[in-house]
Amino acid sequence: MPRPTPIDAYPTKTSDLQIDTEDILQEQIPPDGGGRVLHKNAHLQFLVRNLAQGFPARYMSQDASQPWLMFWTLQAFSTLQIAIDPDNKQRAIDTIMHWQHPDGGFGGGPGQAAHLLATYASVCSLAIAGRPGPEGGWDQINRKKLYSWYMSLKQPDGSFIVSNCGEVDVRGIYCLLVVAHLLDIVTPELIDGTAAFIASCQTYEGGFSSASHPHFVDNVLSACRPSLGEAHGGYTFCALASWVLLRPYIPLDDDAPRVDTRRLLRWLVHMQGSEIELGGFKGRTNKLVDGCYSWWVGGAFALLEALGVSGVPESARASDETPPPRPGTHAEDGWDDVDDSLFNRRALQEYILIAGQHPAGGLRDKPPKNADAYHTAYCISGLSAAQHRVCPSPAWRAEVRAVWKGEDGVRAAAFSEALSWTEEAGASHVVGSAANRVNATHPLFNLTITHTEGIMAHFYKQSVPKRVPKRSP
Ligand code: FPP
Ligand code: ZN
Repeated sequence: MPRPTPIDAYPTKTSDLQIDTEDILQEQIPPDGGGRVLHKNAHLQFLVRNLAQGFPARYMSQDASQPWLMFWTLQAFSTLQIAIDPDNKQRAIDTIMHWQHPDGGFGGGPGQAAHLLATYASVCSLAIAGRPGPEGGWDQINRKKLYSWYMSLKQPDGSFIVSNCGEVDVRGIYCLLVVAHLLDIVTPELIDGTAAFIASCQTYEGGFSSASHPHFVDNVLSACRPSLGEAHGGYTFCALASWVLLRPYIPLDDDAPRVDTRRLLRWLVHMQGSEIELGGFKGRTNKLVDGCYSWWVGGAFALLEALGVSGVPESARASDETPPPRPGTHAEDGWDDVDDSLFNRRALQEYILIAGQHPAGGLRDKPPKNADAYHTAYCISGLSAAQHRVCPSPAWRAEVRAVWKGEDGVRAAAFSEALSWTEEAGASHVVGSAANRVNATHPLFNLTITHTEGIMAHFYKQSVPKRVPKRSP
């Protein structure tokens, strides 16, 4: 039995819940060492049921999240390698286009106010199901109005409110930046000051909180902006992805905003649960592991690596020698779990396979909870992040740039940076049989590379060199 999380002599609701969770998770481990099977078909049935029959009544409270329900379903299909037939694609497109607001952006349902989060979920759904041409969705997006609406949400500190008269939140900024990159509406005016705002949301722990706020010293506005609230995996993913998206436009001078990547790394690695928690991720300090953080935190490591933070130890970097497998690791199947990853990829896959899958199909936070569309999507995306290594390739960036037609500048940078992300050949590790393999997703957008390329090539009016699949060594 693995070691329980240490507690002191003062039990609280939190420590009791932690102990209960550890017991429940341990009970999930099949005694024969099996159970590492991804039940793709059961998850497919779960997703199809929602799509074909409509969501059950318990989703009523999510009436303003209709684009999210659509995105989670479509993206889970894509990651599970399930093709959507043309009729269902058209149904999806027609439904999504009813959410577009006449003044720009998309709302959470027909006639609802436009919101940054609903706009992200709608546009990403269109990246998956849509196409160019009449009725295809892509050319019916009103990008001019969308851009004006985005500019109307902009605040003097570089942040954005999530809707007219709404609040500021890094989730909204991430959603805005993703859509602006996919639809070719990034301009220097749009992103002015945004990187500095993002950097100001990093907390003393190293992760990011939802926002930051102005601070006054002797009634004078100070340059220092305290972060607002607690570091959380969801906000951290959004802030980090925003930072990586904005990085190509940040001038490299002494006044440039900075993120403390060492502190961030320390916080991120501490979010992975211990062996007794089956290596799942939690969203904040002293809270419980939950399947959705497989993506929000597990997926953040690829972003951190893109900033040059590597898991290769100094000693190994100095020579080409591969260190011998340590005793007690899983080197016998060709995968030492003490590899150069920044997190334990094997353990995360095991959490998802053992605890994340609901026996009746769909994935969940943790047992004994029910499956839902959100956890299904993010457990599967997290599984993908644990299986594959997707990183920016300088060689591929150069190839994309070489065929760029037009001027250098923000557009060229946005296009070539976003499409430089490439799945590293021979670096995938799948726990269980090869049938457990899921598609790689783009670490910035959580769309497959194919869907990202398709929609970006259309809006930037560019062609992308054909990716030749490399054989594993
Ligand atoms: C706390 O929930 C959750 C939050 C404070 C926000 C979570 C944010 C995300 C998951 C990111 C969403 C991203 C986009 C793009 C919209 P809780 O208290 O129920 O959970 P916890 O105990 O695990 O913190
Ligand atoms: Zn969750």
